[in-house]
Amino acid sequence: MRPFPNLTVVEHPLIQHKVALLRRTDTSKKLFRELVEEITLLLGYEVTRDLPLEVVQLDTPLETTHGMVVSGKKLSLIPVLRAGLGMVEGMLKLVPSARVGHVGLYREHDSLKPVSYYFRIPDAPELRDFVILDPMLATGGSAAMAVSSLKTHGAERIRLMCIVAAPEGVQHMLEQHPDVHIFTAALDRELNDRGYILPGLGDAGDRLFGTR
Ligand code: PRP
Ligand code: URA
Repeated sequence: MRPFPNLTVVEHPLIQHKVALLRRTDTSKKLFRELVEEITLLLGYEVTRDLPLEVVQLDTPLETTHGMVVSGKKLSLIPVLRAGLGMVEGMLKLVPSARVGHVGLYREHDSLKPVSYYFRIPDAPELRDFVILDPMLATGGSAAMAVSSLKTHGAERIRLMCIVAAPEGVQHMLEQHPDVHIFTAALDRELNDRGYILPGLGDAGDRLFGTR
């Protein structure tokens, strides 16, 4: 398959190991939640690689010097409800001062089209770096709608972090929002006729929250 210019697959062995556990049908809800958080934290290292730094003055026990710190307040995390919620804590462990907004979307069962039901993001979006969190990129409809909503409200710098992506979703994002880079732990084979990712891991929201 030709590599997608808008996609980084983070192939660190620890991530691949945890994704394999995440996929398993016999993985418990508790372990599933823990794995989603841990994978997010590991992916976060790559997603935040070029975050802007600020120079600060600081005192060591010996003298005053300068250090570089992440402009963490400028980073905004946007989990897509519901499944994106499972990724928030992992990212906040890396960047505790990040702001958190929420985008509520669900995929309509038959059409697979996203339906929006909630939107709340931090103020001054034009000044912030946004990372959308959603473990599953399937048709790409939800991610594209989340990005469109952010852009409508003034966001200019947006990335998408997911755990399992389908080629169809990456292609859809490339066509709709080529400026949004996607970071994923796995690029899977294809979608089935109900829009589920194969081999995938099933319904991420249901597995995180114990619904069906
Ligand atoms: C899942 C997932 C994504 C979306 C991906 O959410 O978390 O948001 O599907 O599918 P798409 O790329 O085809 O749009 P779902 O609609 O199942 O909602 P939920 O998280 O509330 O269960
Ligand atoms: N949403 C999920 O949770 N899983 C899929 O495979 C596709 C969409």
